[in-house]
Amino acid sequence: MKFKHKIKEKLKGVLNEEKLSLLPRGFQTLGSIIIIKLNPLLLAKKKIIAEGYLDLLPKIRGVYLNSGKIVGPFRKPEAMEFLSGEDDPIVTHKENNVIYRFDINKIMFSKGNLNERRYLPTLVKPGEIIVDMFAGIGYFSLQIAKNSQVEKIYCIEFNPEAYRFLLENIKLNHLEEIILPIHGNCKEEVLQLSTSGIRADRIIMGIFPAPFPYVQVALAVSKIKGSVIHFEGVVEKDAYYSLFEDFKKIAEQEGYKSELKSYRFVKSYGPNLFHTVLDINVEKN
Ligand SMILES: C[S@@+](CC[C@H](N)C(=O)[O-])C[C@H]1O[C@@H](n2cnc3c(N)ncnc32)[C@H](O)[C@@H]1O
Repeated sequence: MKFKHKIKEKLKGVLNEEKLSLLPRGFQTLGSIIIIKLNPLLLAKKKIIAEGYLDLLPKIRGVYLNSGKIVGPFRKPEAMEFLSGEDDPIVTHKENNVIYRFDINKIMFSKGNLNERRYLPTLVKPGEIIVDMFAGIGYFSLQIAKNSQVEKIYCIEFNPEAYRFLLENIKLNHLEEIILPIHGNCKEEVLQLSTSGIRADRIIMGIFPAPFPYVQVALAVSKIKGSVIHFEGVVEKDAYYSLFEDFKKIAEQEGYKSELKSYRFVKSYGPNLFHTVLDINVEKN
């Protein structure tokens, strides 16, 4: 029986037919907790609903409700609420060979970015040097370090809480030789890397709505013979090319030519809006 049917069965008698039909189709599992989203009409019964989930999922120790967005410069969850079970928001989550440890109240972890986290390591060639400008807790860098033959990844993160977990995750995954964490604003830190002679084969620019203010510094660590930039943005489907054209304009002003090699829509991000990634080759003129 599908889980949605099981939870409906479980909550018969607690919710009427109309409310049963509003139960969510899925949930996010992070380590041994789950995060659910509820229709506003179900909020009055949120605790009983959460207990139903706990009863049906014996390996799960806690249920949390996510009723907000990911907000602010640190990209933090806006409204995460403990509902039932054991309230310990620090999770140890395994994905594709990697252990991620973080606090779900303070740190985002997008289910929709799973394919992108899996995909990036497959692009990396042996011996590459990478700069991950918005590293967070190591979303992409841990995957790349664990699942490719990268030589070195410089990971920059300015949120002290995310940075603390980045350090912990590097240790947990035994990646101290590969990942070099840097606590600070990538605007300054990438320039610092450039000044000290670091040049990257690949630069990851994973921040919303789009990291235009950081293109100039990213180019400063690119290689003369060319680098790949993974440039994220939130755009309408047909607007992905104008995202590239805006990037290209900035690069041209800096004396670089750019070529859009590929692009993908990672996940839906609202009505007709998509989290988009452009793979751009840049090369000094
Ligand atoms: C959470 S990841 C982004 C994941 C996903 N692409 C998104 O935006 O929803 C972005 C990380 O970049 C960090 N960040 C944002 N601006 C930064 C900056 N100027 N320098 C360093 N880190 C930054 C945030 O603190 C956050 O941890």
